[in-house]
Amino acid sequence: MHCVRTVTDNLYWVGANDHRLTLFENIHPIPQGVSYNAYLLLDEKSVLFDTVDWSACRQLLENLSYLLGEKPLDYLVINHMEPDHGACIEEILLRYPQVQIISTEKAFLLMRQFGFDVDSHPCITVAEGDTFTFGAHTVTFVGAPMVHWPEAMVTFDTTNGVLFSADAFGSFIALDGKLFADEVNFDRDYLNEARRYYTNIVGKYGTQVQAVLKKAAGLDIQMLLPLHGFVWRQDLGYILGKYDLWSRYEPEQRGVVIAYASVYGGTENAANILACRLREQGVQVEMFDTSVTPASYILAAAFRFSHVVLAAPTYNGGVFVTMENLLHDLTAHGLKGRRAAYIENGSWAPTSARGMQKLLEPLNWETAADTVTLRSALRQGQQEDLERMAAQLAESVKA
Ligand code: FEO
Repeated sequence: MHCVRTVTDNLYWVGANDHRLTLFENIHPIPQGVSYNAYLLLDEKSVLFDTVDWSACRQLLENLSYLLGEKPLDYLVINHMEPDHGACIEEILLRYPQVQIISTEKAFLLMRQFGFDVDSHPCITVAEGDTFTFGAHTVTFVGAPMVHWPEAMVTFDTTNGVLFSADAFGSFIALDGKLFADEVNFDRDYLNEARRYYTNIVGKYGTQVQAVLKKAAGLDIQMLLPLHGFVWRQDLGYILGKYDLWSRYEPEQRGVVIAYASVYGGTENAANILACRLREQGVQVEMFDTSVTPASYILAAAFRFSHVVLAAPTYNGGVFVTMENLLHDLTAHGLKGRRAAYIENGSWAPTSARGMQKLLEPLNWETAADTVTLRSALRQGQQEDLERMAAQLAESVKA
């Protein structure tokens, strides 16, 4: 049965929700599910903007069948062909054999690479600044390379100010009947998942996001329609402002993320004591066990806060595995401009602080406090080392 929502005049959400997928991209947990958004414009011509993941194809087809009735589908605009949005292209071509596909040259190349038989249909290649008229609605295409793949574009409807924004402004949430960000308390309930989506999926490409934001500033945007999560029709400055901060790698808040790994509890104990001393000085702290919390959550917190404390045992002469994995993730996403401090542990040869600093070298983070070295566990009198670290961090956070 169809399940659609009206976005605005003649424009409909025809996507689907997914609560069954455990790991997005087979790596990021999505406990609140995810939505695959596709949109149908019914003008003189009918236009489908993007498709959905293969797992949701039947829902998309039922939605289209309901809205189109006996009418044909005239155009399929593919802003982003990654399979969570492009997997149903072939099925659409089979069901609507007269449909013409509009996308970028790179997108058509990737469609062929993924084995989609698009060449049996008219393929209209568009580039930055091209326009297309579907009747009352005229759209212009805007390149968005690396947001999040190289072929991506966004489509701006000059008639009603709708921006089909591809992956930009998405969230790791299933909509479950909701559609608009103004229908919920987004800042309280959904910002964390929007940040985790941005930082993990697009976070590496801050420069490219900045380029798209600059282009967007020249458009009279009234609505943002991403491929995941909420549609924005109010307070667009809020989410645009978050994207501006995140893509410049500027923290949203002064405060400390403590990420620790611990084998027998000694490092965890030190991390807990440090958190207490920081809280006593009024410093906001968020703490994670790298062996328990998936890296995507810790990466998102590191984007959010100004300071990061990394605490880990020495392991096989290097850095404990789960911490090493997190540090690779931080460097892979190019998170710039954080201030760091280190707690190392080693029962006979503690070297993990040096190892962590080496892994983080590409990010050029400044050090905000003296390193604390544990030998198995905090020894009597060594609490002063943590008090000094807390004082140095508090001073730096409040500077
Ligand atoms: Fe939601 Fe880059 O695909």
